[in-house]
Amino acid sequence: MKTDLPQSFRRLEYRPPNFTFGKVALDIALDPARTIVKSSLEVLPGPEFKPGEPLVLQGQELEFVSLRINGAAHRHFELNPESITIHSLPNEGREAFMVEIISICVPEKNTSLMGLYVSNGNFFTQCEAEGFRKITYFLDRPDVMARYTVTLRARETECPVLLSNGNLIHKEKLPNGWHSAVWEDPFPKPSYLFALVAGKLECIEETITTGSGAKKLLQIWVEPHDLNKTRHAMDSLIASIHWDEKRYGLELDLERFMIVAVGDFNMGAMENKGLNIFNTKYVLAQPETATDADFANIESVVGHEYFHNWTGNRVTCQDWFQLSLKEGLTVFRDQEFSADQMGSESGRAVKRIEDVRTLRQLQFPEDAGPMAHPIRPDEYQEINNFYTVTVYEKGAEVVRMYQTLLGVDGFRKGMDLYFKRHDGQAVTCEDFLAAMADANGRDLTQFKNWYSQAGTPRVKVEEHYNEASKQYVLTLTQSSAKVNQQPFHIPLKMRLLTSGDDQKEQLLELTQEKQSWTFENISEKPVLSINRGFSAPIILDFVQDEADLLTLFSSDDDAFNRWEAGQKLAMQFILDNRLPGAQLIAAYRTLLLDPDLDPAFKELAMTLPAEAYLYEQCASVDPQNIYSARRAFRHAIATELRMEWAALYQQMQTPGDFSPDGVSAGKRSLKNLALSMLLDADVAIWSAMAVNQYQNANNMTDRYAALSGLVVNGSKQAGICLRDFYSRFTDDALVIDKWFALQASRPPIAGVEPTLVDVMRLREHEAFKLNNPNRVRSVIHAFCMGNPASFHQADGSGYAFWADAVLTLDPINPQVAARLARGLDRWRLFAEPYQSKMHAALEKVAASKTLSADVREVISKALA
Ligand code: ARG
Ligand code: ZN
Repeated sequence: MKTDLPQSFRRLEYRPPNFTFGKVALDIALDPARTIVKSSLEVLPGPEFKPGEPLVLQGQELEFVSLRINGAAHRHFELNPESITIHSLPNEGREAFMVEIISICVPEKNTSLMGLYVSNGNFFTQCEAEGFRKITYFLDRPDVMARYTVTLRARETECPVLLSNGNLIHKEKLPNGWHSAVWEDPFPKPSYLFALVAGKLECIEETITTGSGAKKLLQIWVEPHDLNKTRHAMDSLIASIHWDEKRYGLELDLERFMIVAVGDFNMGAMENKGLNIFNTKYVLAQPETATDADFANIESVVGHEYFHNWTGNRVTCQDWFQLSLKEGLTVFRDQEFSADQMGSESGRAVKRIEDVRTLRQLQFPEDAGPMAHPIRPDEYQEINNFYTVTVYEKGAEVVRMYQTLLGVDGFRKGMDLYFKRHDGQAVTCEDFLAAMADANGRDLTQFKNWYSQAGTPRVKVEEHYNEASKQYVLTLTQSSAKVNQQPFHIPLKMRLLTSGDDQKEQLLELTQEKQSWTFENISEKPVLSINRGFSAPIILDFVQDEADLLTLFSSDDDAFNRWEAGQKLAMQFILDNRLPGAQLIAAYRTLLLDPDLDPAFKELAMTLPAEAYLYEQCASVDPQNIYSARRAFRHAIATELRMEWAALYQQMQTPGDFSPDGVSAGKRSLKNLALSMLLDADVAIWSAMAVNQYQNANNMTDRYAALSGLVVNGSKQAGICLRDFYSRFTDDALVIDKWFALQASRPPIAGVEPTLVDVMRLREHEAFKLNNPNRVRSVIHAFCMGNPASFHQADGSGYAFWADAVLTLDPINPQVAARLARGLDRWRLFAEPYQSKMHAALEKVAASKTLSADVREVISKALA
């Protein structure tokens, strides 16, 4: 039943549950067309219990069969499309009673990939946030934590493997070729952490001993033909387990920990207790099929889901408004894990730069657009729309600021107190802040504003140096994007760079709207290095002259700020539509030739700010102008430094066996940047070398980089290599995704047909599947959200394609459609004719009468 006015959920309307569950027993007979779920719930009065109130359980798309209470058939209930209301409870619900419900669901028809579904013949579940209600009627909210026993039944030939959370306590053969397995999870958990997996899967396994001396069984389950691609995920899991013990004293609490890979999945992965379910993209890797970026992503996602076992599962969220409590914290933890895995200070800096680049490219636009929300939102229509870069990545920045303010040890004390107080509970962001404050004896009241106020704060920098008194005065003024906001508590790491290096790094805490600091005995006018390491997620309004930026770019001892100075320089040139001058080229040359610099850092320093980030610097965006200015600037770097690129291409070869470690990956990234620059400088000359790399590569990073260089630069060899690539990897879905994504991401090339023509053709390709999210993302999202210059065409053809795709995808998978619907979020920022054409496309989608709540919320907020 669709109502006209969308329902909004509000944070301040939270009420504790009137009932809660003790033991939960599920008995699930798996059949793709008709899965029968018997659930036995031990119901207890909850914190808000009122005698006589009915028990309301959520349920969606379920066929109801029967209800019994304390063993007897019960007839006092109402069924609604999204719930069941049970009246006349025994003794008005004052003491524990048993509810038994039988219902049926249809996994093979479930294309939303929420609840129980079938992927390639196997069964999987996804319950976060509200998918459990598509499996059975339940109090499907994170503050109801119960102990689960799960009996799975299936035909043994079709589903030899039956998995659920916790420990396997029983297995049995049943009549008619069926069999069953019973799983018991010793830890109480909310329904969103429930999982089951069943089908024809195989695993690699390993036994490890953790800190307390306990033995743990680790398994990675995949389809049999993928078994040879699981080693890296297993190594990442083992490294994650050791890291969490060492860094936070947190040990794996289960005897058995399983990861399962599935090819149809809405997101990256899911931290179900003891049974993590992953998108294959974040599990499967071997050198021939996965790039360095894939290897790094697998390590970080495996870490992320494993770290949730404490930050998310042992301590969970009271309600979904608190999502950043677990996600921001867990992203921070996975970032730190990956940084430590880099094995050096410069490796850590590289990781930090990559994370900040993501934040600015994706989260800053979100925070400035129609879906802007604080890391703890106050209102939502569809919770699935709030698994955002703000909740995750900005949330991680907020957690990082505690560590910056309290120090690494202070942060650890706060974590220890958080677990001491809240283990086994469902809590709020205030609880986390209180633990940090109390463990360190600090008043963090003002810090709360980071949780309640949306938008990226701006900090204006003014400096005054007095030659005579040798005083340097720094004045910082903060202003927020939105009216009526309170000042933030902003930690800013800074250092004054002078020719003698007597000035140390300091931490300034900007808490008022305007604050000044005076530095004495400064022998000469210093160059300011501020927001070092990106200590706060803000925008700096600081007009630093080119000479100072060049100084920072060549010599700031903070690697992040050194990179940042280069980005600022490039950005100013591109936005002014200027080509790099002799000085800047010389600075780039020096950087490239510096034998002491990390190749990965060089690659980042020579990579220009993304178009999406450049858009945010403009009052009115002309996407084609920005594209051409950026391209011309890049072409100049490619041409002027071609000798250096050619030399680097030779020097950065990594002969011998492939290793995905940070240092080797950094060399490959610089080598492949060199190749791409050479192709940019002169595609006719350098194509042969790229084709050679394409053909002879012993790893996907090099093969794909060569192919990409040929395609992006419009080489005559591109077509033949693309065809070769397809036939080499036809059977490997994740590699074929790359093949699709590369073509959908191609920028416009003079004299070559528009990318949209290719995209339309790819959409009709026999290997394109509208119900596989990875495939859809590799074509449609890649074109609409990852290829700005091809998407933003003045004739509006890209937008018309977008509207059609959103409307086509919505009935199949609302989450995938809603993600795509975000593609026009920033329409008001664009110049004409783009703006009107985007508006028309949004109106076209809005006119549909059958939109999902997911897409409806995104579109109505964009148009509001
Ligand atoms: N908790 C998961 C993670 O952070 C994300 C799952 C979100 N899924 C969803 N359908 N909204 O790894
Ligand atoms: Zn997460």
